Amino acid sequence: MRTKIPNTEEFTWQRPKLWEIPRIDSIIYEMLPSAEAAFRDRLQEITQAHSDARFASSLAVEDMVITDMIAKYNLSISIFTLDTGRLNAETLTFLADMRQRYDIAVYQYSTTAAMLFDKDNGSDAMYQSLDLRKCCCAIRKIKPLDQALAGAQAWLTGQRREQAVTRSELPFVEDDLQRGIKKYNPIADWSETLVWAYIKKKKVPYNPLYRKGYPSIGCEPCTKSIRAGEDIRSGRWWWEQKENKECGLHNITNDRKNDEK
Ligand code: ADX
Ligand code: SF4
Repeated sequence: MRTKIPNTEEFTWQRPKLWEIPRIDSIIYEMLPSAEAAFRDRLQEITQAHSDARFASSLAVEDMVITDMIAKYNLSISIFTLDTGRLNAETLTFLADMRQRYDIAVYQYSTTAAMLFDKDNGSDAMYQSLDLRKCCCAIRKIKPLDQALAGAQAWLTGQRREQAVTRSELPFVEDDLQRGIKKYNPIADWSETLVWAYIKKKKVPYNPLYRKGYPSIGCEPCTKSIRAGEDIRSGRWWWEQKENKECGLHNITNDRKNDEK
């Protein structure tokens, strides 16, 4: 009698499906022109109100939409990025590529204090405790942010309300009470699909990590790819609770705290 040969397919391990760049319905593309016009007006109002407005770009797709608009409408908003020293190689290569593509200055800020922190706490201190993780962010992100914003009248971010529970009440403009300047979140009301519709329609370049299952990109040790259907920030500080997933760049202002009471 012949032995039954097992069907190998039954035993094939299925690699989990990673998050993918969203497909865009035509209805979203139809919304794009009016969304872009409103967005351009919002950015122009910022430049009219402040002669020295600075945009913090992490090179995320939201930030690339803002960068593309700044370049396209020749807006007087300077762009800077915080180089934490722990960014992925892909992100650094992308920074060089996008600078070339737009022929635009992107000022880079970093701190040597990060080396001291690593020496005292080790290069994987962020996994040891929430305090050490926040300390690492404070040194690698907040310190250079303070340098980048010294003397600025206002700054802009690419945060969106949909991104996190901590951002659901995000206003277009808030007071950065610590620095005594305005902080704008001009893309706060855009959906993830609208952002991707802009990126695809205008052929805006983006970090290749998005194609590897990363919908949200930070530092290499604190970001991983996620599976389809997971929360888009679940790959950021994945070992922490949702309400802790902020690095301190965007502490909720007192205004918002009072509004939420
Ligand atoms: S984070 O607080 O969790 O790191 P997130 O990655 O969502 O923030 O980015 C939100 C916004 O914060 C970005 O659109 C950008 O404006 C700013 N930002 C975050 N990381 C950086 C960075 N490395 N350099 C400059 N801006 C940054
Ligand atoms: Fe440090 Fe991670 Fe924060 Fe980057 S995201 S500054 S590596 S703790």
